[in-house]
Parts: sequence; structure tokens; C-alpha cells
Amino acid sequence: MTRGRLRLLLAAALTLALVAPLGWLWWASLLPASYSAMEMGVPDHGGGPVGRAHAAGHGTGATSLVELDPTPTGPADVRVDLVARQGRVRLASGEEVDGYTLNGRSPGPLVEATVGQLVEVRLRNDDVAGGIALHWHGVDVPNAQDGVAGVTQDAVMPGGSHTYRWVAPDAGTFWYHSHQLSHAQVTGGLLGPLVIHPEEQREPAARDVLDVGALAHLYAGEPTVNGVAGVDRVGAEPGQRVRVRVVNTDNGPNAVWASAAYRLVAVDGVDVHQPGVVEDRAVGLPAGGRADLELEVPADGSAVRVSLLGGVGVEVGPEGASAPDPPQPERRVDLLTYGAPADLGLDPARPNRRFEYSIGRRPGFLDGRPGLWWSVNGELVPDLPMYVVREGDVVRLTIENHSGQVHPMHLHGHHAVVLARDGERATGSPWWFDSLDVADGESYEVAFAADNPGVWMDHCHNLQHAREGLVTHLMYDGVTTPYRLGEDSGNVPE
Ligand code: C2O
Ligand code: CU
Repeated sequence: MTRGRLRLLLAAALTLALVAPLGWLWWASLLPASYSAMEMGVPDHGGGPVGRAHAAGHGTGATSLVELDPTPTGPADVRVDLVARQGRVRLASGEEVDGYTLNGRSPGPLVEATVGQLVEVRLRNDDVAGGIALHWHGVDVPNAQDGVAGVTQDAVMPGGSHTYRWVAPDAGTFWYHSHQLSHAQVTGGLLGPLVIHPEEQREPAARDVLDVGALAHLYAGEPTVNGVAGVDRVGAEPGQRVRVRVVNTDNGPNAVWASAAYRLVAVDGVDVHQPGVVEDRAVGLPAGGRADLELEVPADGSAVRVSLLGGVGVEVGPEGASAPDPPQPERRVDLLTYGAPADLGLDPARPNRRFEYSIGRRPGFLDGRPGLWWSVNGELVPDLPMYVVREGDVVRLTIENHSGQVHPMHLHGHHAVVLARDGERATGSPWWFDSLDVADGESYEVAFAADNPGVWMDHCHNLQHAREGLVTHLMYDGVTTPYRLGEDSGNVPE
């Protein structure tokens, strides 16, 4: 063998040694053309008992989430028809942007119900090419009604329809949005507000506080509230008590503050216990999160203003009255200490399972694409943890972030309560949430009751991040999904 030949062989061997592991990593990251959400993760039992096999369909005596749905048959109390379209969205200013509408508008119509009422939403897809699905963000509905394409249903293709039926479980401020190709469809406006009233306020006459919606959304980068790029005005008498229901539908954090003192009466649809009067502080809103501010229209005939980031807000008061545009306070309401303690209804000191959700970022392949991707507990898709619980468990979860960016974490089907942040214990009202901003370097200790069997997404609500792999699932032992993800299925929830 000549020296030249030897050198060539050595070079080839070296290249192979370098490329082969990369090739293997690339190959291992490829997702099948059709797969179950339940195959996408490494089961983590959190120190609790290990049950049957969890891979889709392998479990003996496994129950499909469809069979778990307890929703009664019979006529609904609230019926809503929603027709989705793709195309131009006309903002209240008259400006038009590309996006999606429900019943010809975005945001879609307000869906309103009372606790205990049977809600029926008939969703029709007119022409949204990629298909659609509707998720009831923050409403702890039965799993089969959760509206996640490929996990709890198939995407509704153009010309198709799907009926959702669920009994309104809890009062509060919520919203609904597409959970098919959500990174595009939610940004494009396939969403709307949802309010559930407490039973004693079933009749509008029984409500002495005026409800005002304030749904924030960026359309093609333009900040709006209730579709208005500026100030949305609502009429009210002097002295009227008002509840402003603020919803953040964007991928990034928002904040809300007011021209008058207010109380933060609810967070993520759950009442705050003994909320104190807030002055000169703003409330932060994670992506997907809600905050209800209660305040009073001044007696002197002027209006009150509630402001959000981007120069938008709502102004409530008598016709023609205006309010000063309040500067954004530097300080924030800290939910760790706001309000007064109350019973949690669960004992977090004796959890049945403990999980870690540690968010990082590292280079690798995501379905064959090289890049810098989000990791959970050091792993990338498809090796993220699959959190396994049983009904009746008390679960503790540590959410930690060292990824360089903030992540608004959202667990479907459950509300969790914050126990501590960076080791500092919560001392205020129980801080129940479904959307929680975990900033870079932060660590939250949270707990929840496993009381809603199914297969639930637990993901970042910055929907670009979800698309970049920041999605895990919480599954109940013995529950399976008949739906499929992957190219062949047509289901792309992110
Ligand atoms: Cu509001 Cu899985 O989302
Ligand atoms: Cu994120």
C-alpha cells in the first residue's frame, strides 16, 4: 500500500468515526409517520407504583380516554355554533391582516355559561386547510373534550365538523383556541374568550358587578384588546363596580395595571382568597394566563382605565368620559404573598409522586433537523419524560428553567398550586394556576391532585417553543388514546 493510499484510508475512517455517531443521533430523532402520544416519552413514575404497560394498546384492560367521558347525553343548556375560516381578519380599526376567524370575526364570540350547565359547541371547519381543533384553555374538562388534535381527537378537516360537550366545572375567566398547528392558528387569531359564572349568578340580573372582557392579542405584530388596536370603551354608571377579565393569548408575557386602585380577584379562573387593595403595581400575565381585576368607576363622572402592554386597554365609564392613561408601575403584585392563606384541599406534604421538569437548551436533532432545541431533564424529543400518575395521587412537581428564556408552562386538565419559588415558600392566597411563567434561573415547587384521568399535554405556551419540542405529557396509568400523531395522521397539535 502506498503512503498516499494509507492516508486516504485513514482519513476515510476518521470521517466515518466522526459522522457515524451524528448519523445515529439524526436517525434516532426521526419521528415515525404515525405514532401515539403515549410512545413519545420515557415513563417516569415519580417514585410511585409502576402499573401496567403504557405503550399504546399494550396495556391489558387499558381504557380509552373516549370511554372515560362522563358527559351526559340529552339537550344542552348552552349551545354555540362556531364556523372557522382562513383568510383576512378585519380589526376594529378597519385594518385587515391574514389570519383565521370564527363566525367571521377574531377574536371569536364570547362563550358564556354557568357552573353545572351542559355546554355544547358545534365546530365546523369551512376552509382551514391544515384542519382545526378547539381547546378550552384552563377549563378542566373531561379528557375526551380537551380538543388536542392527535391526543384527544382527530383534527377537523375542511368541510368537517366536531361537537364538544362538557359540563362547566368551575367559575372563572378562560379562553378557547385551536390546538391544531397552534403556532400558526393561535397567532393568526383562531381563539376567543370563555367565561363561566358561579351558580348563584346564573341570571344576569343577579350580577351586580359589570363584566368587562379584555382579551389581548397581537395581530401581525399589532397589539390589540378585544380586537381594538387602542382603547376599547365600555359604558358604565359612576360608582359601578367592574370586573375586568384580562386574557393573554400571545406567546410572550403581558402585564396589566389601572388608573385606580383595584383588587386582583382571580388568577387563571380561580378566586384569590382575601385579595388586598393594589395601588401602583402591575400584574404580570404569562402567555395563556388570565387576571381578573375588580375596581370602581369613579363617582365624579370620569372613567377608569385598565392598561396592557403595547398601549392598549379598556376604558369604563359614562358616555364621553375619559380616564388618564396611567404609566406602567415599576413594581409587580407578587402572587407568592398576595391575599390570605386558605385550605388547599390536598396535602402537598405527603405526595404520592414527585417529578422534575427541568428546562434547558442544547444542540441536537429534532425529527432530523439539526438545531438548538429545548430539553427537559437534559433530553430532547422523543426522549422527554412521560409523567405517569394514578387517579387520587397527590403530585409534586419541580419546574426549573436554565434555558436562557422565560417559559409559560401549561398543564392541561388540572390546576396546580405554587408551594415555593426559588426555595421561598408561598404565604399568600393559594396560588392556583394553569399557566405559569418560569423565568430563566427560576425554580417553582408546585402540587396538584391527579383527579382528571386521561392523557394530558404539559407544555410551554410560547407556541413556537412548543413547536421546538417543549411538550411533554401527563398520563394516567391504564388510560390510552386511540388517536395518532405524525405525518400520516394529519394531526399536528403544535
Ligand atoms: Cu392553551 Cu395546550 O394550550
Ligand atoms: Cu417556552
